[in-house]
Amino acid sequence: MLLVTLFLLCSVQTACSEDASTSLYFVNTSLLQITFSSTVGVFIPCPAAGSPSATLRWYLGTGDDIYDVPHIRHVHANGTLQLYPFSQSAFNSFIHDNDYFCTAENSAGKIRSPNIRVKAVFREPYTVRVEDQSAMRGSAAVFKCLTQPSVQEYVSVVSWEKDTVSLISGMSFRFIVNHLQMLDSCLEGSS
Ligand SMILES: *[C@@H]1O[C@H](CO)[C@@H](O)[C@H](O)[C@H]1NC(C)=O
Ligand SMILES: *[C@@H]1O[C@H](CO)[C@@H](O)[C@H](O)[C@H]1NC(C)=O
Repeated sequence: MLLVTLFLLCSVQTACSEDASTSLYFVNTSLLQITFSSTVGVFIPCPAAGSPSATLRWYLGTGDDIYDVPHIRHVHANGTLQLYPFSQSAFNSFIHDNDYFCTAENSAGKIRSPNIRVKAVFREPYTVRVEDQSAMRGSAAVFKCLTQPSVQEYVSVVSWEKDTVSLISGMSFRFIVNHLQMLDSCLEGSS
């Protein structure tokens, strides 16, 4: 009888430790920063997962547990962290501008994502402008798209236009982040 019990224990343990189907893994290791608009809010899926399906938990970067705050912050059953849209007066740096991380835990063990910087930004009206540039005939001229410093980080150029006609990157123009490089300024003359 004792022998049978030992044998059973053994086979159960072997089954557990050799079960190749249990795993924990990172879904997205490049998710280190999330910037979202306060008027839209954000859904952040846990970047870690497992098989069999893991228990996903979110924490503040300090390791503190996070709690649901009605209509402000909620962790869904599938492990997605949601921050709701909010007005400027409801801004709370602990919630809307903080480091978070997520853990995934199952019978294979437990893994922790890197800290993810979560930051809300407020929409504010802004204008863009381009300053005149001078360049030697035949050499390249670089134009910078300028906007106010408070929004500079969040504004990206989607197109450059000359007399309402979109410029196309190619032989004459090159686009570099928020800059336009006019490769041969004599082609365009002065305008
Ligand atoms: C991983 O995260 C980065 C940064 O947020 C994002 O651009 C990319 O689309 C994500 N990739 C996947 C597979 O979710
Ligand atoms: C998780 O659940 C939320 C709420 O139901 C949903 O909006 C989101 O798309 C889900 N995310 C994933 C990764 O399934």
